[in-house]
Amino acid sequence: MKKNRQTQLIHAPRKAPQSIHTVQPAVYRASTIIFNNTNALFNRHWSDDYDYSYGTHGTPTTFNLADQIAQLEGGEYCLLAPSGLSAINLVNSCFLSHGDEVWVADNIYGPNMEHLRNLQTRYGICVKVYNPLDVHSFQPSEKAKLLWLEAAGSVTLEFPDLVALVKKAQAQNILTALDNTWGAGLAFNAFDFSDAHLSVDLTVHALTKYPSGGGDILMGSVVTRDKALHHQLFRMHALQGISVSGDDVAQVQRSLASMQLRYEAQSHSALKLLDWLKQQAKFSQVLHPADPDNISHSYWQAVCQEQHSAGLVSVIFDAKYSLQDIRQFCDALQLFKLGFSWGGPVSLVMLYELQHMRSLEHTHLQSGILVRFCIGLEDSQDLIQDIQQALSVLD
Ligand SMILES: Cc1ncc(COP(=O)(O)O)c(C=O)c1O
Repeated sequence: MKKNRQTQLIHAPRKAPQSIHTVQPAVYRASTIIFNNTNALFNRHWSDDYDYSYGTHGTPTTFNLADQIAQLEGGEYCLLAPSGLSAINLVNSCFLSHGDEVWVADNIYGPNMEHLRNLQTRYGICVKVYNPLDVHSFQPSEKAKLLWLEAAGSVTLEFPDLVALVKKAQAQNILTALDNTWGAGLAFNAFDFSDAHLSVDLTVHALTKYPSGGGDILMGSVVTRDKALHHQLFRMHALQGISVSGDDVAQVQRSLASMQLRYEAQSHSALKLLDWLKQQAKFSQVLHPADPDNISHSYWQAVCQEQHSAGLVSVIFDAKYSLQDIRQFCDALQLFKLGFSWGGPVSLVMLYELQHMRSLEHTHLQSGILVRFCIGLEDSQDLIQDIQQALSVLD
């Protein structure tokens, strides 16, 4: 058929790719996916990854990263979402219905709690808060459907009594979902942990942090070993139109190769900082689960058997320092930049007023402003010097 130039530009003949081996896989970008014929159109099945049908369903690029993340975390199936929070919301909207009870740790990632409170108000879901260090505070009723875990928890970094909590939830057929962003699939295997070989049902991971590693890409994942759970999530994922860009996936995939090296380097620097921070008189408390003095240390040890920990460490300033003082401290930092998130090359700092963040009373936490340091890839001695010079504004 003879074609006009404009048509030729659109329908240029394409050669099928030769067998070519590159370090990184080819990137597919797709909204429309072209079917070979009507047979392929009518015989496709939504639950088959390889029945490509539309961009939101997935492409070889997205399925490839999903498989890698499932493997990283010790699971079988994975779905990608445009952010960690979107992955959390996918789990909540998939498994919670009117009248269900959901249990959340008091130190859970704040926006997860906020999302659940929103579901409570609008859809009659009952949100219950438990102390992650006290399994007795988790008292599920027969309506309990989902238990959210986070190890270590946000900002105050307590490592939960994961073994006791998961055992108790399993005994009552309650789904367990772990926010695995801190462990990142490297600190422990959420699908086979502790000497008891326990497994959570689902993990959520903010790939925005360590897997992206650049502080520039947002993405999240939900992993499971259970095909039926995966299919439920896959349906909801499609109905909500959740999808990720092939280009973003390629960037995350590129960074995955160096993820373990970065994680270990940042953990190592965080431990060096921990030792130094503990000697500083201006802090009333330094919070890190690998610290033998930490209240949750034994729970961390029971699960993180290879003694891994992420690059986060928090301090509580002596209560004599006001919020204004701590703002001055943060503003005086030069290498640590003021910003949310973690896992990137640049060290970050954030300040928090704990009294506005917790609903239970935690006697192990001192009063005072909390500052969280997220360690990047700078030299740890330079980071220590930076904190030291910023502390001098409080003299
Ligand atoms: C523990 C934890 N989970 C989930 C998220 C959400 O990830 P994202 O920023 O990709 O939405 C964050 C973000 O800071 C987090 O710290």
